[in-house]
Amino acid sequence: MAASTSRTTAPSVRARKGAEPPLVMVTAYDAPSARTVDAAGVDMILVGDSLAMVVLGYDDTLQVTTDDMAHHVGAVARTRPDALVVADLPWLSYHVSREETVHNAAALIRAGAGAVKLEGGGKRIDAVRAILDAEIPVMGHIGLTPQSIHALGGFKVQGKELDAAQALTDDAVALADAGCFAMVLECVPDAVARMITETVPVPTIGIGAGRHCDGQVLVWHDLLGFGAPDHRRPKFVRAYAELERDAAAAIEQFCADVRAGTFPSSAETYHMTDRMAEALGLYGASDVAEPELTQ
Ligand code: KIV
Repeated sequence: MAASTSRTTAPSVRARKGAEPPLVMVTAYDAPSARTVDAAGVDMILVGDSLAMVVLGYDDTLQVTTDDMAHHVGAVARTRPDALVVADLPWLSYHVSREETVHNAAALIRAGAGAVKLEGGGKRIDAVRAILDAEIPVMGHIGLTPQSIHALGGFKVQGKELDAAQALTDDAVALADAGCFAMVLECVPDAVARMITETVPVPTIGIGAGRHCDGQVLVWHDLLGFGAPDHRRPKFVRAYAELERDAAAAIEQFCADVRAGTFPSSAETYHMTDRMAEALGLYGASDVAEPELTQ
């Protein structure tokens, strides 16, 4: 089947450097979330390894494999979104060898992604080059890189000191020079994000990086107000809905209706014709009269 002409591609994202309006990316992990974000008009759908935390209930992102990611990329891609599907390469899928890196990136492309994302700067340039060499577009990701949680000592804002800010800029330049078509800047001061955005020739997509980026990304569950009751929302999250609360209220109402005997109603029930019911001797079999037996 031919791809839709309105489909966003890695080159079309790359061409939006410095353009208005800013790029929008939202995560999705399955068909309903993919349909929702695509219908809303995002430019990119990120099948993030945040999957581990927001969908699978782990404490960090280190627990998902390439197979897990491919499973969810497939679900997103089968909705045939216009948005570019970017898939996260999980931890250890691009750290061991060039061959493994390319095979893992290819698995995500075969599952339906149009590009992959990996975390890290200068240290990951060989991996970026290997993947690009297989004709797969790569998005970088620097700043707070959750796959380095143990090395970083926690989920902390990065690049607050002068040296760290300069190192981040060097990483961004290295990723752009290697050929990344865009890069995520996560949890860095807005001045650092601005400096990087003004320095690199490819779009920067911020999350907790202020407004001076070429685009913004949020996680589906944060944006829509899902999260465990003890989950503290990071400062950079704006919840545009409280769907976990609303979903719980809807299900509570269902419980109440079932328990009160008001669900299902006659309109929500399949009925026989009067003639068939009579033939089966159903009239009088119950003392609960059904008002409509017409369908
Ligand atoms: O996995 C993810 O959702 C991400 C975003 C936070 C950018 O990498």
